Order: sequence, then structure tokens, then C-alpha cells
Amino acid sequence: MTKAKLVFDPFSMDFFNGAYETYRRMRDEAPVYYSDEHDFYALTRHEDVAPAFKDFDTYSSAYGIDLATIRNGMPTESGPRMIIFMDPPSHRNMRSLLNKVFTPRAIQAQTENVVDKIEKYLSRLDPDGFDAVQEFTAPFPVEVITTMLGVPEESAQQVRHWIDDSLHREVGQVETGEQAMKANIDQAMFYLDLVAKRRAEPRDDLFTKLVQAELERENGEMDRLDDLEIAAFASLLGGAGAETVTKLVGNAVYMFAKHQDQWQMMREDRSMISGAVEELLRYEAPSQYNVRRNMRDVHLHGTTIPEGSPVFLIAGSANRDERAWTDADKFDITRDRAQAQNLGLGYGIHSCLGAALARLESSIALDRLLDFMPRFEVDFDKCTRVQMQNVAGWKNVPVKVLR
Ligand code: HEM
Repeated sequence: MTKAKLVFDPFSMDFFNGAYETYRRMRDEAPVYYSDEHDFYALTRHEDVAPAFKDFDTYSSAYGIDLATIRNGMPTESGPRMIIFMDPPSHRNMRSLLNKVFTPRAIQAQTENVVDKIEKYLSRLDPDGFDAVQEFTAPFPVEVITTMLGVPEESAQQVRHWIDDSLHREVGQVETGEQAMKANIDQAMFYLDLVAKRRAEPRDDLFTKLVQAELERENGEMDRLDDLEIAAFASLLGGAGAETVTKLVGNAVYMFAKHQDQWQMMREDRSMISGAVEELLRYEAPSQYNVRRNMRDVHLHGTTIPEGSPVFLIAGSANRDERAWTDADKFDITRDRAQAQNLGLGYGIHSCLGAALARLESSIALDRLLDFMPRFEVDFDKCTRVQMQNVAGWKNVPVKVLR
């Protein structure tokens, strides 16, 4: 029997449904995969993906980190400057500014904010039937971030709908669609208005801190962020910080319904929660891939990736690479985390700025869910997945708490 042609299409149902079988074949049969349909390359083995994330000289972020933007071929620095689209030295300067704002102490100080938002949405759930994503894991993380930023509470869910629209993709749709474009513009206008308000009237929030912070520019001069830079960063935080936590905790509900024994273990020993968060990041990375533009010809596994190509670094595959992990496809919250570098929160200079907040939110959410639903069941037939650019996970997970 001849094998089906190996096709990895990040804008297909195969990807939206979790392309783990495709990734396995890519690792085995085409460790440097080339898509003739979309003209990109992809790395899937842990030993290739991890060093590529670190090698910013070869794999640049400055042309965008999604296929459509990189294909435009324009350095993103000509537009609003977002840290995730920067290479050093700009990246280093921006990161050191943000590190002053995202200190471990500042994140720890968000605990009350996180608990408030989690309890607010948990208290509204009907134990006899609720949708874990729509009613819980989607609304709370965006409210954590927007509260931190200083966005009025009544606008938080609007921000989430803008982000959802911005990331949504139909099958076969590579480019940003009209609705996504409109959402991006509406969101930018909304944030620009808030920045102006904070300039006029400072408050104790992240927007005000960003307005006041100083950074060193490439020419060595000290400067403040301009309105567009702050608005762009605020949109990034929503996309990078809210969608991902939503997916991680949504995946948790689904996975623990399949592994009730591990749920019970964790219920009895809450110190296992941190291992569970890491395993969820590994097993189904909410951010499946980030794309880079390679800045020189790369020779790898007998293939040459020509300079200027979009290269997918697929953390979602590297985290399941059987060459790096024992029983890579087994979900096990007690697994030895020292086996390999978990790439779920990125790696290298762009590794997640909000990692501490992501872990805090996910841990508290799991802890409270353990109390709220000691035993539960999921209607697996009614679970549906999102269709998004780079983010993977569930859109609907119907749950019933068992008494
Ligand atoms: C489970 C939750 C999260 C996951 C899985 C996640 C994942 C990631 C990944 C994979 C990257 C690397 C991107 C790249 O290399 O191009 C990243 C970067 C980033 N994340 Fe997160 N993230 C999460 C939560 C958060 C939160 C809560 C925040 C905000 C408070 C945040 C803010 C950022 C920012 C600003 C960057 C860019 C950093 C840079 O370019 O230096 N993330 N994240």
C-alpha cells in the first residue's frame, strides 16, 4: 500500500484538529518540510526547533511571525513596533523596558486580580451543564490582562471578541480577512484613546507605567514609547496573553476528563498542579508554532532552506518528539520535566514575557476547578475546536459536574 502524500497545511482542518500524526510523519520523513502549496519550510524535531528559536541571527522575527506577513517581505519595523516582531538590538532595549514592568513582584501582585476574575466566572456556572471554554476559560484571562492594563471592565469582553476575530481563519485562508482587519483597527483606535486618557490623567495601571517608562533607542538615546507603540503592545498582550491561557485551561478540562485518575491525584495533592501546567504546555502547546524569516541559506538534513524563506518552528511538534521525550504522546502530569526543554512558552530571546502570569493564572484556575468539580464528565461528541492562526485548542467543552 502506498502512503498518502505528506501534507502539512496550517490553514486546514488537519491543523485545527491537532496535527500530531502529521507532525510525526514530518519528523520521520521530512525533518525539513517544504510546502509547495504555500511555499514555506517547517522544522518539527526538537533538536532542530529549539536551537532555531535561539538563533535570531539566522531566524529573524523582524519580518513578522506569521506566514502572510513574512510573505509580504517588508520588515515590520516600518509599522508599529511590537516587541515580538523585533530582532536585537531593538528587541533587547524593549525587553529591558518591559522587564522593569513585568517583574516577578508585579506579577505576584496580580494574584488578587487573578483570583477575583476566576471566582467571578466560576460562581456563574451551572454545575448541571456549562461550557467550560465559553463560560469560563475564555472570559477570565482577558479580564486579568485588561484590568492590569487599566481598561474599563465593561470593555474587556469586547477586547476578546476583537482578538478572536483577528486570529480566526477559514480553511485555506492565509491572509488576514476583512473582519480581522476591522477588528485590528477598532482595537488600535480603542487603545490609542486610552493611552491619550492616561497621558492626561495618570493612574496606577500598566498603561500609565508604559507612558512613563523610558527606553534606550538604537542610537543610544533615551526615549519614551509613543502612543502607537503602547497601543500595539496592548494589542499584543491581549493576543499573546488571553487566547493562550484560554486554550491551556480549556485543554486541561478536556484532558482531565480523559484522565480522571490524574485529576483525583491532583485533587489530593495540590502540589502536583505546577507539573500539570507544564505537561499541558507540552502536550498541546496553545501556541503551536511561530514563523521566522531565515536570513541566510541553511543546510539541514540534506536540504537547503534558501535565504528569505518563511520557516515554521513547530513547538507543538517538538514537544511531542519521541527523540526528546519518553512516551511523548502520553499525557502524564508526573513526567520528568528535566528530559528536554519544554517549548510551550517559547525559547530564547522571545520566550514568553508573561510566563509567570500564565503559570499563575493556570494554576489558580486548576486549583479552583478541582474544588468546583471534584468529579465531572465532558460531552466529547459536542466538543469543537477553534480555527485560528497558530493558536490551537477547544472552542466548546460541555461539562457536567457529577455529584
Ligand atoms: C499559556 C499561556 C501562554 C503561552 C502558551 C504563551 C506562549 C508564548 C510563546 C510561544 C511566545 C514566543 C513567541 C515567539 O518566539 O515568536 C510568547 C511570547 C510572548 N508572550 Fe506569551 N504565552 C502565554 C501567556 C502570556 C501572557 C499571560 C502574556 C502577557 C502578560 C504573554 C505575553 C507575551 C509577550 C509580550 C511575548 C513576546 C515576548 C518577546 O517577543 O520578547 N504571554 N508567548
